[in-house]
Amino acid sequence: MNESFLESARPGGAGRAQKETLAQLNGVSSDAKEPGVTRRSLGEPTEGLSGKGHLNEVEPLLSLRGIDKSFGPVQALAGVDLDIPLGQVTALVGDNGAGKSVLVKTISGIWEPDDGQIFWEGRPVHIRNPKEAAEMGITTVYQDLALCDNLDIVQNMFLGREPTRYRLLDETAMELAAKRTLAELSVVTVRSIRQAVASLSGGQRQAVAVGKAVMWNSKLVIFDEPTAALAVSSAAMVLELIRQLASRGLAVIVISHVLNEIFSVADRIAVLHLGHIAAVGPISEFDPQKVATLMATGTSSWSSHESDSPSDPREL
Ligand SMILES: Nc1ncnc2c1ncn2[C@@H]1O[C@H](COP(=O)(O)OP(=O)(O)OP(=O)(O)O)[C@@H](O)[C@H]1O
Ligand SMILES: [Mg+2]
Repeated sequence: MNESFLESARPGGAGRAQKETLAQLNGVSSDAKEPGVTRRSLGEPTEGLSGKGHLNEVEPLLSLRGIDKSFGPVQALAGVDLDIPLGQVTALVGDNGAGKSVLVKTISGIWEPDDGQIFWEGRPVHIRNPKEAAEMGITTVYQDLALCDNLDIVQNMFLGREPTRYRLLDETAMELAAKRTLAELSVVTVRSIRQAVASLSGGQRQAVAVGKAVMWNSKLVIFDEPTAALAVSSAAMVLELIRQLASRGLAVIVISHVLNEIFSVADRIAVLHLGHIAAVGPISEFDPQKVATLMATGTSSWSSHESDSPSDPREL
């Protein structure tokens, strides 16, 4: 593939420097704690990313602190604190109306929070719109809305990012890049990358959306109910893709109601209840019953970790 071809079209850098870093907010000198993530050059081939060896696994990619969001009298999010690390799948769960979609839309630049601060790679940012989120490396994969039905796979994967340096699109280079990305992700069920997206199954459509996120060097991929409308085999493929993204070092957030699925795919879980984070921690500290209780009541009746006296009462 012609790297300079892609380089010319790849999105710009992440958030702007602002007054207070996350390290400072946490009481750590900014000298002591560099913004955490090994930044990828935008022209760097994605193959260089595999494995977790390059990543700083301490500093989260994304941190939310005290995020509030209300719609009139409805407080959708209340003081949400959440860290999203690289290289891991974080499941976001909660009952209907708990605030999951509002939280994801806040991260994706659709809503601005009323209060609180978002940190990206340790620096405070304001994500004002979805374009800014995309430029930072945040991709949100919705069930059906992410792709254009009337365009083929290649056109979808390059949509909005066609290179401007050349008057003519380099169809061969685009095909090669799209094909190689899908092959890397082991997407084998797509017959032709010149197939219109309208003719793809739900799982295949998500595979193309994931391929697009990988090809354009996303750092955080968010899935809102990715398997809700999928057959079992397609759901398995999408879950496998989600795991692949994490093992390539990306941060992944998955919203799901299906507890089996969460326990098969997630490294961490965050439970929202009426706009509050009721619990967050590694998946090993939860079981489906505990998650169901937390989703329904906001507290856990399960006591095996209560003696651990965590410093943050919400950290289980
Ligand atoms: N645009 C909006 N205007 C007014 N209220 C809203 C809006 N979007 C969300 N809300 C309210 O915010 C709360 C959280 O909604 P949200 O869509 O985040 O729930 P959810 O956890 O995604 O639920 P579900 O599992 O049903 O998708 C709800 O009370 C909802 O009615
Ligand atoms: Mg929702």
